[in-house]
Amino acid sequence: MSLLERLQKKTEVQQAELAQEELQDAVSEAKPEKKDMASALRRIRGGEQPQKEMSEQTNKHHEFKNRLYKQIFNELKDDNVEEIIPKLDAMAVEIMKEDESFRGKVDRKKVIDELANDLTGFGPINPLLLDPEVSEVMVNGPVQVYVERKGKIELTPVQFRDDEHVMNIIEKIVAPIGRRIDESSPMVDARLPDGSRVNAIIPPLALNGPTITIRKFSKDPFKIDDLVRFGTLTREMATFLDACVKAKLNIFVSGGTGSGKTTTLNVLSSFIPSDERIITIEDAAELQLWQDHVISLESRPANIEGKGAVTIRDLVKNSLRMRPERIVIGEVRSGEALDMLQAMNTGHDGSLATGHSNSPRDMIARLETMVLLAGIELPVKAIREQIAGAIDVIIQQSRLKDGSRKIINITEVQGMEGDIIVLQDIFTFRQYGVDEQGKVIGKLLPTGVRPKFYEKLESSGIHIPSSVFVEEGWPD
Ligand SMILES: Nc1ncnc2c1ncn2[C@@H]1O[C@H](COP(=O)(O)OP(=O)(O)O)[C@@H](O)[C@H]1O
Ligand SMILES: [Mg+2]
Repeated sequence: MSLLERLQKKTEVQQAELAQEELQDAVSEAKPEKKDMASALRRIRGGEQPQKEMSEQTNKHHEFKNRLYKQIFNELKDDNVEEIIPKLDAMAVEIMKEDESFRGKVDRKKVIDELANDLTGFGPINPLLLDPEVSEVMVNGPVQVYVERKGKIELTPVQFRDDEHVMNIIEKIVAPIGRRIDESSPMVDARLPDGSRVNAIIPPLALNGPTITIRKFSKDPFKIDDLVRFGTLTREMATFLDACVKAKLNIFVSGGTGSGKTTTLNVLSSFIPSDERIITIEDAAELQLWQDHVISLESRPANIEGKGAVTIRDLVKNSLRMRPERIVIGEVRSGEALDMLQAMNTGHDGSLATGHSNSPRDMIARLETMVLLAGIELPVKAIREQIAGAIDVIIQQSRLKDGSRKIINITEVQGMEGDIIVLQDIFTFRQYGVDEQGKVIGKLLPTGVRPKFYEKLESSGIHIPSSVFVEEGWPD
């Protein structure tokens, strides 16, 4: 008899026995008034606190769940998780029979539902992952789970049993992609089957307990109209950026983590005409382009033996041999900056990239440092010339205090003056204050300066109405 058959046979007998037990339980539950009265009395007398009663029940619930959990892993090692689910009930019944103390204390169906959730999905955070309003899920150890909803970070009531429970979920996330997490490799990047990005870091590095950060993959990525509607940029700015992309300017999106760089990069990429060959390069593929002719490349971390890593830089170099018309780089953070700048300076116009920084000027400084990381000795002035020659526009993205994302600068890289790179803002954000709800009040405005490349745009047949650059008058 197979394991499965044996289990099913057992179940039939147990079901009959359990029906009897359930009847008894039902009878005792059918007298709620009496129970409530008793607990109210106890409260009045200052005896047992209702919380304690609750937590005792919770303990039983967890104890029962743990028992069931162990049994699953003892008995059904080779079985596929999906096949275990229908058997959970039989196992639960058996445990209830063995241990009287669970009788009337645990909700069998609830335990089974929770376990099934743990086994097939990602445990307590499953509902958060399914919630379309949640864009990020942050597990800071077992008892603190935050989400980002509509740009705001909020604490949720979701909790794990203990560290081990969180660890189970992490293992479940990383195992399918052949990675592992333990003391010897306590940090890991992974991806959920739906494309969401996951980072996990565990004790002793994480003091809160095992920590998971999930950036959910947007099934329906924002489009330019969404960003205009959100107030991330104005219609004029959108018109301007569309023209810059079509005119094959090299554009760099700068901003902090979570400020919306990748989203903006995706929107900018959507302006690329569909007859151009696009190569995207990312650490974890997030870009979702609508064009047909797109090659997506993804870097790879080293395996457990520390071998086989393929860096963004390797991919940038390789992409140059793939006859690209557009290179789109997810995030530039190291030596690949040099290869990117060289590509931009040698005819690969119209490239797009993002980088981590707080202002356009800061971005330039960071790019200088990144070029040095390429390990090629270059005088600072030469590096600056590379940068000034390569990059035409820097878009500064920011997540404001109220959670909204804004493009706070669109800045032209005009060239060199002596040793200095000259930057000129074309659009900027002016903040006037904050309203009672904490919402930032401000306006995105053209500075009134037309970019130097305006003529170049016109001569390549791309027309931007000059009203786009007209200063509407800066309120004081
Ligand atoms: N303009 C925007 N308005 C509102 N939410 C945005 C905007 N841009 C991005 N987001 C949201 O912010 C989160 C981070 O965006 P992302 O583009 O990945 O940031 P970054 O690449 O800078 O880390 C995502 O959940 C995304 O949906
Ligand atoms: Mg990003």
